[in-house]
Amino acid sequence: MSYYEIQGGRPLGGTLAVHGAKNSVLPILAACLLVPGQCILHNCPDLSDVSATLDILRLLGCRADREGDAVIIDASAVNRSDIPEHLMREMRSSVIFLGALLARLGAAELSYPGGCELGPRPIDLHLAALRALGAEILEEQGALACRCCRGGLRGRELCLSIPSVGATENAMLAACGCPGVTTIIGGAREPEIIDLQSFLQAAGAQIEGAGTSTITVQGGVPLHPVEYRVMGDRIAAATYLCAAAAAGGEVELTGVAPDTLTAVLACLEEAGCTLHTGPDRVVLTGAAPMRGISPVRTAPYPGFPTDAQAILMAALAGGEGATLFVENIFDARYRHVDELRRMGADIQVAGRAAMVSGVGRLHGAVVRSTDLRGGAALVVAALGAEGTTRVSELRHIRRGYQALDKNLRTLGADIREIP
Ligand code: EPZ
Repeated sequence: MSYYEIQGGRPLGGTLAVHGAKNSVLPILAACLLVPGQCILHNCPDLSDVSATLDILRLLGCRADREGDAVIIDASAVNRSDIPEHLMREMRSSVIFLGALLARLGAAELSYPGGCELGPRPIDLHLAALRALGAEILEEQGALACRCCRGGLRGRELCLSIPSVGATENAMLAACGCPGVTTIIGGAREPEIIDLQSFLQAAGAQIEGAGTSTITVQGGVPLHPVEYRVMGDRIAAATYLCAAAAAGGEVELTGVAPDTLTAVLACLEEAGCTLHTGPDRVVLTGAAPMRGISPVRTAPYPGFPTDAQAILMAALAGGEGATLFVENIFDARYRHVDELRRMGADIQVAGRAAMVSGVGRLHGAVVRSTDLRGGAALVVAALGAEGTTRVSELRHIRRGYQALDKNLRTLGADIREIP
């Protein structure tokens, strides 16, 4: 089993272009099902979650090819509406295909995506939204059989009790296939929702409001092929910034809009880092050691992103001073804490709260990734730690980071993958 070997203590420096956003390209790839023709997506990151999604599209009858950082999807001949369990299990977020398949084919059969490393991942809001639009959904033995009721899908007003990112995206895609107007109230406001809307608008959809909690879709409008550039990955950017904050040095990131990660930048500034930003760049100068900051409470956008919680925690654990974290989005998102403790971190967890007391400097250890962002957090911690760290279970990291080790070496880190 391969692992990263990291020699900590080297300041980072240099410029890095951030890859395209995983959490934007996945729903946009599903949205390509709505376009009977060829779409070209630029800045499409080479991630295992993206590969799994391309496999699903091919299984459904699409052509899906990669040419460098572009992916070409031809959904002219979609010829099936069922996604086998082994592909659904590969990636939880494939539940996003529900709305797209219902809109394109009026049917969808897939297995329940089930939980993941972050705890239970219910999809009740997804199903309620689609049923409200006219889908009949049978749930039995872990499988979902969906089809349109006799009258077909019809647009209408939908209310989401939680601003679920995935449920908002599923409703947007299904609504594109519903004649009439759909209004999604209480939708998620994440930048990735805006990116999905921008893709759909470029393909001819009449949709607006993304970025606010009310999204309106005039459905039933035929969509046409489009060439589109996916936004930069704000969580990958947060990861590289926290790495520079933990290790010290000055790093410039390009290809990411600073206004998509303002909550993270505010925390890094409060911890003592110096930040300069431009329209699509962020420059961070680390200030070792990082200071403790005011409580970090994860929340729906524009609040502090849950995906950056482990990453910032890892950087602060090696600093000085105390910081309280409160994880409000997922039930089991502290699985990286035990691994950070192996590196000398002082973190006390009580339910949703975690009190991090900076120990001045972490030390190297043999640790394993517990999930995507938890694994990235261990790499961040290792870069600022004293000595050598080995991070295993890299499959988690490969889901959401393109060439993490190579990119960090570009910035001067001593990290290599040992096969
Ligand atoms: C998306 O997951 C992201 N994944 C996650 O990123 C991210 O952490 C999350 O949004 C929150 O920002 C992708 O975009 C592929 P939610 P999603 O529905 O859509 C509850 C990463 O590391 N909920 O917004 O699954 C749910 O349990 C990943 O890149 C219901 O109760 O998240 C959670 O507590 C991890 N019922 C909360 O809502 C539902 O039907 C927010 O989840 C749906 C969600």
